[in-house]
Amino acid sequence: MNQEEFKKAMLEGIPEKLPSVKPYETSVSHAPKRKNVLTLEEKKLAIKNALRYFPESFHAILAPEFLEELEKYGRIYMYRFRPDYEMHARPIDEYPAKLKQTASIMLMIQNNLDPAVAQHPHELITYGGNGAVFQNWAQYRLTMKYLAEMTNNQTLVMYSGHPLGLFPSHPDAPRVVVTNGMMIPNYSSRDEYEKFNALGVTQYGQMTAGSYMYIGPQGIVHGTTITLLNAARLHSQGGIAGQLFVSSGMGGMSGAQTKAAVIAGLVAVVAEINPQALKKRHQQGWVDEVYSDLNELIQRIQQAQKNKEAVSMGYQGNIVDLWEKLAEKNIRVDLGSDQTSLHNPFAGGYYPAGLSLEESNKLMATNPELFKKKVHESLKRQVAAINQLTKKGMYFWDYGNAFLLEASRAGAEILAPGGEFRYPSYVQDIMGPLFFDYGFGPFRWVCTSGKAEDLQKTDEIAAMVLKELADAAPAEIQQQMNDNVHWIREAEKNKLVVGSQARILYADCNGRTLIAKAFNEAIRKGKISAPVVLGRDHHDVSGTDSPYRETSNIYDGSALTADMAVQNFAGDSFRGATWVSLHNGGGVGWGEVINGGFGLTIDGSADAERRLTNMLHWDVNNGIARRSWARNKPARFAIERAMQVTPELKVTLANEADENLLDNLFE
Ligand SMILES: NC(=O)c1ccc[n+]([C@@H]2O[C@H](COP(=O)([O-])OP(=O)(O)OC[C@H]3O[C@@H](n4cnc5c(N)ncnc54)[C@H](O)[C@@H]3O)[C@@H](O)[C@H]2O)c1
Repeated sequence: MNQEEFKKAMLEGIPEKLPSVKPYETSVSHAPKRKNVLTLEEKKLAIKNALRYFPESFHAILAPEFLEELEKYGRIYMYRFRPDYEMHARPIDEYPAKLKQTASIMLMIQNNLDPAVAQHPHELITYGGNGAVFQNWAQYRLTMKYLAEMTNNQTLVMYSGHPLGLFPSHPDAPRVVVTNGMMIPNYSSRDEYEKFNALGVTQYGQMTAGSYMYIGPQGIVHGTTITLLNAARLHSQGGIAGQLFVSSGMGGMSGAQTKAAVIAGLVAVVAEINPQALKKRHQQGWVDEVYSDLNELIQRIQQAQKNKEAVSMGYQGNIVDLWEKLAEKNIRVDLGSDQTSLHNPFAGGYYPAGLSLEESNKLMATNPELFKKKVHESLKRQVAAINQLTKKGMYFWDYGNAFLLEASRAGAEILAPGGEFRYPSYVQDIMGPLFFDYGFGPFRWVCTSGKAEDLQKTDEIAAMVLKELADAAPAEIQQQMNDNVHWIREAEKNKLVVGSQARILYADCNGRTLIAKAFNEAIRKGKISAPVVLGRDHHDVSGTDSPYRETSNIYDGSALTADMAVQNFAGDSFRGATWVSLHNGGGVGWGEVINGGFGLTIDGSADAERRLTNMLHWDVNNGIARRSWARNKPARFAIERAMQVTPELKVTLANEADENLLDNLFE
């Protein structure tokens, strides 16, 4: 398809003539069949809902087709309407749009659906098993048409993948406002998600899938590297080299573990039950060696430990079998975690021990009750082996996948005598006190020219800005700053780009703002050839209220509130974001978290500088202020520092109560 045909197809929206049926392609990974949860009346409603997108003349053909999709796959994806052009991020000038801002959003959406990037591209799932960009292809088509046509005086409203329409606004408003999975709180259980998603009225946007901000597995590598590095620093004697890290999962985000472990200098062994997932990571060079024989693997582990190699090994099999073998053979494991998709434990996120991948896929659809029992038995075995190894000195943490929560629901021995979890989450021990509380978070950017030279230029600029900041940084954040400088200098060498020309870099408010300003200046001067999209993972200082993950180091009782994330979304929207998003459920599961984020396209203008300065300041300091109010000491330090340089910032500070006074009250 040539450029003109592509533009025409983007502008088409819902086609006037029915496109022909698309064959079900076996060369791409497809989402597992979703549970059949609807009653007969509800199925009728789901089909009626789907038909809303099409003229009545199509209905007689589409109604039975949609019923077939619903019966066969559990959802109506409208496969027939998948576009004919190749799906990938194109250079920004190739998009038919009136504004650079909207063209950049089209680029980001197409990147999230690129088969090289997305987990189940034809079901519009980017990562995490159910992280959706849209619910169906009609929504995609309409959204692209709206983005192409809209002006600076309009805002596109997205309800869980559904484009409600363009509404009059003003140039300073966000061009797109996205919400995903917003429910009345009492109707936010997992079963309700299955039902309302099947009806076509809501979706699970994960964090960066439904907010168009996913940048491939790279998005999580920097965070995983600093987690592993600091876990190794904090919890083991001697140096980092030769320390063994064991975990599971080679999927969308979990696939970052092996790469990050090698960057951190560790020996890593990660189990993956799905041979396709393991093969993909091996081919991409994200895991060095692959084993399916446990005895052979154990020998290799011992050799790597002895030689202090920085190497990664994939075990093709079940993580439970690996943990049990390591415990039985008395192998010294220094660091341990888990990254199966336990936010979605009974629908393909976790494969229980004793069953093959195929047996599990069948059982979860044919006998969900028995499957659930198998998952629970497996989690109990997994925790028993982990407990054996932690007794011998292994440091184990929950990796934000609801492992502790699901293991406790399974009745595994995961609770300490006081009733709290035996093990911390990575945010409680590492990411919270060392990073989020100081304002360090997963800042990212995408070069919309699609040129590697532009990305290279941004890397150089970011490294220069950060080095200056690191040299002048106070002792409290010196280590973090130095690690970040090291990361950005090595980033290109680590070949992290999959899909768009993107970079992730943990930075604090100062770092993010100064880097963004320097990019804007370089665009203005033509040193960077096209606009840059700024963004971040929702997994950040201020963006996410998630008591089992991002806010698990909040101890004043407010961990179950979601004011911070909602305020963040609202505040970003009137401080200059190009698009904003608010989601229910990213990471740890539907109903367990509220998270939000933004995209901000900078084009070298003074207007872009005003927006980025104002918005990034709020986007980071909102969370620091809340963390400080929760009595987190690093956050208190960071917010006082911010107030010193910004006179307009006036934050309510907490007074500390004397512990003795409180104890005496109850004597
Ligand atoms: N590391 C982080 O910072 C971080 C951040 C966000 C989310 N997470 C969480 O981590 C989890 C994984 O995310 P993902 O995007 O990689 O999901 P994913 O579904 O793409 O990958 C998980 C992988 O685990 C494998 N698996 C499942 N059960 C297994 C078993 N018993 N033994 C071996 N392999 C098994 C699956 O085959 C799959 O490939 C999610 O719950 C996600 O929310 C982690």
